[in-house]
Amino acid sequence: MCGIVGYTGINNATPILLEGLDTLAYRGYDSAGIAVWDGENIVMKKEKGQLSNLKAILEREPVTGCCGIGHTRWATHGEPSYINSHPHGDAKKQLVLVHNGIIENYVRIKSMLMDRGCVFVSDTDTEVVAQLLGDVYNGDPIKAIVEAMKLIEGSFALAILFRDDPHRIYCVCKDSPMVVGFGRDGAHIASDIPAMLSYTRDVTFMGDKQIAVLSPDGIAFYNEFGTPIDKGCSHIDWDLDAAKKGSYEHFMMKEICEEPVAFRKTAEQYVSFREPRLKADCFPWDADNCAELKRIRIIGCGTAYHAGLLGKKYFTELAKIPVEAEIASEFRYSGYTFEEGEALLLVSQSGETADTIAALRMAKQAGVRTIAVCNVIGSTIAREADEVLFTYAGPEIAVAATKSYLTQITVLFLAALRLGEIRGTISGERVKALLSELTSIPEHMQKLIDDREAIQYFASREFSAKHVFFIGRGIDNALSMEAALKLKEVSYIHSDAYAAGELKHGTIALIEEGTLVVGLITQRHLASKTASNLEEVRVRGATVLALTNGSMPDIAGHCNKVWELDEMNELTAPFCAIIPMQLFAYYMAVQKGCNVDKPRNLAKSVTVE
Ligand code: F6R
Repeated sequence: MCGIVGYTGINNATPILLEGLDTLAYRGYDSAGIAVWDGENIVMKKEKGQLSNLKAILEREPVTGCCGIGHTRWATHGEPSYINSHPHGDAKKQLVLVHNGIIENYVRIKSMLMDRGCVFVSDTDTEVVAQLLGDVYNGDPIKAIVEAMKLIEGSFALAILFRDDPHRIYCVCKDSPMVVGFGRDGAHIASDIPAMLSYTRDVTFMGDKQIAVLSPDGIAFYNEFGTPIDKGCSHIDWDLDAAKKGSYEHFMMKEICEEPVAFRKTAEQYVSFREPRLKADCFPWDADNCAELKRIRIIGCGTAYHAGLLGKKYFTELAKIPVEAEIASEFRYSGYTFEEGEALLLVSQSGETADTIAALRMAKQAGVRTIAVCNVIGSTIAREADEVLFTYAGPEIAVAATKSYLTQITVLFLAALRLGEIRGTISGERVKALLSELTSIPEHMQKLIDDREAIQYFASREFSAKHVFFIGRGIDNALSMEAALKLKEVSYIHSDAYAAGELKHGTIALIEEGTLVVGLITQRHLASKTASNLEEVRVRGATVLALTNGSMPDIAGHCNKVWELDEMNELTAPFCAIIPMQLFAYYMAVQKGCNVDKPRNLAKSVTVE
C-alpha cells in the first residue's frame, strides 16, 4: 500500500521520482505527489488520481532540484483528495514527508498537538507524524526522529526532507518495507526493489525502527536510539526488463505470458531434471525433523491463501500429513494455541503482507518452526522465517497475482513431494514419474497462451455477465477459488467459487437464465460427479463452460462450451488449468474497459491490516 521513492545526487530528481512512482503505481493510485529541494525552497506538487495527473501539472509547472521524495497513495485515513495527498508538512514549515502505513494512535497525538495550538489541514494520520516531528525538532533530524518514534504506534515507512538540511533524505520504517541503494549518481530509496533497478542492483532492506540518511555521496544507518550501525546489502539479479511492460498492453498479460518461464525457473531450483530427482533444499529439514512433524498450518492472504489451499491438497496426498490452510487475518486473532510438532508455512509473493507477517511472528514467539514460500529476497517474511523456499517469478507488477500464484503452487507441490519422499509416504517411482511430468508442462502452458484468442472470443460474448460461478471438487475447488478471485478483482463482475457438491445445499437458488457457471474438471475420477452438477445448473438456464483435463466426451453434452487442456496428471494439471482462468479474467476486464493492471480500490502489497 502506498509507494515511496526518494533520490539525492547529482541529477535532476523530478524525472527519477516520476519514473520510480510509475513503477510503484501498483501500490496505490488514489493520488501522487513529490517534494523537491529547488535550491531555495522545498517545492511540493501533488494531485488527486493517477500519476498522469501529477505529470500534467509538472509539465505546466516544472520543478528542478537534486534532492526529492515522492509518493503514490492508497488512501487509509482521509478520502482521496488533493488536501490528503502526500507529501505533508508541519505548521512551522521545517520539514515535509511521505508515509506508508497506519499510525494507530494518531487521534491521541493529534489532540495533544492541537491542545498546543497546532492547526491541521488534512484528515490523514500522516500529517500527524509531520506535525509531531516538527514539534520535537530542534535542529537535529536524527534526534527528532528518535523522539517521534517513541510516541507513534502502528506501521510506518517515512521519507523526510528537512529544510535545514536539504540535500539529505531521512528515512525510517517499522512494519512497512523500505529499500535503499546507492547508484552511480546518487542515493535512492523506494518501497520496492523494481523502482530502483535501473540505478542499482545492490540494495539494503531497512530493518524495524532503523534510520537511513541518504546523501549525494553515501548512505548512513542508525538504530532506533540514533547510534550509527553498519548494514550489508543484497544483490538483486532480477532482469530490468522484467519490471517493464515492453510491447504488452498490460502487465497482467505480460505476466501470464511469462508463466512458462517462471514455472521452469522455479522448478529448476528444486529439481535436478537429468535424473530426475528432487534437490534436498526442496523441503529444508532433515529426516528426524520431518519424522517429528505432526501438522502443517499454511497461512496466506488472497491469492497466496488460495495457493495454500492447493498446497493443503498436495501435502495431504503426497506426505500424508494433516494440513490446515488459513487466512492470515483470521488466524492472527483466532486465539490459536500451537501444538508440539507443528510447523507454520507462510505463503507470500511480496513478503510484506501485514497479516502474514503477524502470523509468522506469533509462531516464532511460540517457538514453532516457520517456512516461507516467498518471491522477494530480503523482504520481511524472507528475513524472519526460519527457512525460505523462494519462488522465481521475478517482479510482478500487475496488482492481480498470476505468475506468483503459479510459482507458489509449484513450490508447494515440490515441497510436499520432498516431504513425502523423506517420510516414506510416496514411492521413488512415483516421485520420478511426477517429476518427469513437469518437463512437458511449459509446452502445455505455451499452447494455452498461444491459443488465447478462443478465450478472448468467449469473453467478448460473456463480458456483460452479472454473476459468474466457478465450481469444482477437491483440487478443482481450490482452483475455482483463485479463478473467481481473479475475475472479480479485475473485471468487477460478481464471481464466487463453490464446492460443486454444495450447490444443492443452497447456492443453486442463485442460478437463473443466462447465469454463467464455469466447471473445472481436472480430476478425472471426479468428472462424472461435477458433470451432474453442471447438468443441474444447465437445465435451470445457466450458460455452462467446462475446463477439462484432456478430452472428456461425456462432459460436452452438459456444457455450452468446453476448453480442453492437454491430458496430464491430476496433480500437475493445476499448473496449466489456472492459465485459461487468468486469461478469461483478463479478457473480461479488457472487454469491460477496466483498468486491468490497477483495479479500483486495490493495491498490490497490503502492508497494513
Ligand atoms: C490477488 C492478490 C492478492 C495477494 C494478497 C497477498 O490477485 O494479488 O490477493 O495475493 O494480497 O499478497 P502477498 O502474496 O504479497 O502476501
